[in-house]
Amino acid sequence: MELHIYPDAQTACEAAATLLAAQLIARGDSVLGLATGSTQEPVYAALVRMYRAGLLDFSRARTFNLDEYIGIAEDSPLSYHAYMREHLFSKVNVRMENTCLPDGANDGGVAYDEAIRAAGGIDVQLLGIGRNGHIGFNEPADAFTCGTHAVTLAEDTVAANARFFARIEDVPRRAISMGIGSIMAARRVVLVATGENKAQALLGAVRGPVTPCLPASVLQLHPDCVILADREAAKLLV
Ligand code: F6R
Repeated sequence: MELHIYPDAQTACEAAATLLAAQLIARGDSVLGLATGSTQEPVYAALVRMYRAGLLDFSRARTFNLDEYIGIAEDSPLSYHAYMREHLFSKVNVRMENTCLPDGANDGGVAYDEAIRAAGGIDVQLLGIGRNGHIGFNEPADAFTCGTHAVTLAEDTVAANARFFARIEDVPRRAISMGIGSIMAARRVVLVATGENKAQALLGAVRGPVTPCLPASVLQLHPDCVILADREAAKLLV
C-alpha cells in the first residue's frame, strides 16, 4: 500500500485524477473502474478540466462502475447512472456504449464480471471508502465477497446516503455491487479518502488487521494500491 497525504481534499482529488489521466494517456483503450459519491466529484471535475484543455481522449476508453442502487430507475436523477452522466460521461468524449454500470433492475452479477473479464480486466479502479470501511457497497460482514452481487446496505450507509433523498424511507436499502474479488482483480487500485469522518475507517484500512469487518483492509493485500487522503482523513495515521 502506498499512502499519500495532501493538505486538502481538492489536492488529493486532483492527484487521483492525475493517476487516471496518466493511465489514459499511456493507453487510450484503458479500462477504468469508476466510483460514485461526494468524494469523487472533484476527481471527475479535474478530469473534465483536463479533457477540455485537450489533454485527454476518452474515445477508446471503457468504463465499469462499482455499484448501482436496486429499485431506482436508471433515468432517475438519484441513480448512479445519472451521477455518472452528470459528472463525467456527458462532459467528455467517452462513447456511452463503452460505459457500463451494474443493472439495478437485474441481478446480473455474473454477466457483469464476465463483461469486465472480456474487456481485458480493469486497469485502474477508483474507490472511495464508507465511514464503516466499505468499498463499493461491500459492507462489513463475516466473509469477503467474491464477484458482483446484490447487497443489503448497512444502516450507516443508508444514513449517509439519506442526504440525497427527500425522506429516509426513500433511501434504497439494496444495491448491486462489484464484490471484493472483482475489485481485487483490478491491476491498480486508487482509493480516495477525504474528510474527518473517514479517519477511523482509513486507520482500520491501512493499519488494522485484514478483516471482512472492515472491507477496505483487504487492500493491504493488493499488489498495487495507492491511497490518496487529505490531512483530515489521515489524521489518525500521522
Ligand atoms: C460509490 C461507492 C461507495 C462510496 C463510499 C463513499 O460508488 O462505491 O463505496 O465510495 O460510500 O461515499 P462518499 O464519497 O459519498 O463519502
